Amino acid sequence: MLKDFEKEIANFFGTEHAIVTGSGRIALQIALQSFELSEGNVIVPNLICSMVPQTIISTGLTPLLVDLNKDLSLNVDVLENEVNQNTKVLLVNYLYGCPTDDIKKLMIYLKDKNMLIIEDVAQAFGLKIKGKYAGTFGDFGILSFPKLFFPFFRGGAIITNDEKLARRAYSIRKKTQTKPNLFYIMAEYIYYRSMKHLPKVLKKRLTSINTTPRDSTKLYERKETSSPYHLQNLTNFETMIGIQTLHNLKRLIVSRQKIIEKIYSIILNSNNLHLKPLFPYRDDYLYFRIPVFVKNASIQKWRNSFYKQGEIINMIYRPLSNNTLLRHKCVLLKDYSNSEYLSANLLPLPVTPNVIKILKKLDTT
Ligand SMILES: Cc1ncc(COP(=O)(O)O)c(C=O)c1O
Repeated sequence: MLKDFEKEIANFFGTEHAIVTGSGRIALQIALQSFELSEGNVIVPNLICSMVPQTIISTGLTPLLVDLNKDLSLNVDVLENEVNQNTKVLLVNYLYGCPTDDIKKLMIYLKDKNMLIIEDVAQAFGLKIKGKYAGTFGDFGILSFPKLFFPFFRGGAIITNDEKLARRAYSIRKKTQTKPNLFYIMAEYIYYRSMKHLPKVLKKRLTSINTTPRDSTKLYERKETSSPYHLQNLTNFETMIGIQTLHNLKRLIVSRQKIIEKIYSIILNSNNLHLKPLFPYRDDYLYFRIPVFVKNASIQKWRNSFYKQGEIINMIYRPLSNNTLLRHKCVLLKDYSNSEYLSANLLPLPVTPNVIKILKKLDTT
């Protein structure tokens, strides 16, 4: 069953190989280990899920934090000065599913620098750039299933066309991934689903005894990025749903694009909301979150307004360069002003029918 799912993923992306793992972070870990580097720097955008640098550190490599441009693309001018013999890997991230990195330009630039490239498409599954799927430009693409279309709460994959790297990745997975333990996965699932509805005190208590590492001090100290649950292969049931999702993907993409179109239309036709999308509307963008600038109120105020209507706005990343638990383990540059600005002013709107309803309501009140 896992093999069928892998074949379907490879077919979808048009790659030679797809290697399914228990989570996106494990996919990233295996990809990095497949490079067989004993040390070196990995260029990482300064706004990204903290699991990414944490995973890099766990493989013995060092994140080199690079500022973003105001359109979320990587600041290549900074790269010009910072890429040296010790910089071995570039991690491209499509934050919020935005097709912002001029990946082709970046590839040409990096070709003669002998740099390995990982494209983290955790938030950009199905995004096409100039007719080619994001995730297929570099040496490896990393997927994380719980993000866009898959009704999963775990799971990830590596995609690649490189025969040698794929062989290494398969062999690492074989050594590290274990058989799924259904009882454990069910317990995790119930825990995961019930978290939203539990009182704060109970949540705290549960998080402290649960084995899945969350974004906590303890986690950073232990240098762990995974638990048995991340290291377990997907069950047959999960892979079956995965295959079905891929078969329905065209329909899912169209319905997502319709919601995006409606959200844009409300924002652009409103005189009251004072929101400004980071990108002009395009009917082929998928967006994990729609990034909009808030013009005359703080992000927190907006979050509260949404929260009152039952919608949680998460995925607001703090610059990693300000993360006191991580920054001393990274190579830092001088200037991170853009990522600080983006983090403070950009509201990532979820793509849900509920957001359409809330925006309409806020527009008329
Ligand atoms: C860009 C990015 N990469 C990787 C990951 C890790 O994926 P997973 O939660 O499946 O381990 C995340 C998690 O949110 C992410 O946002």
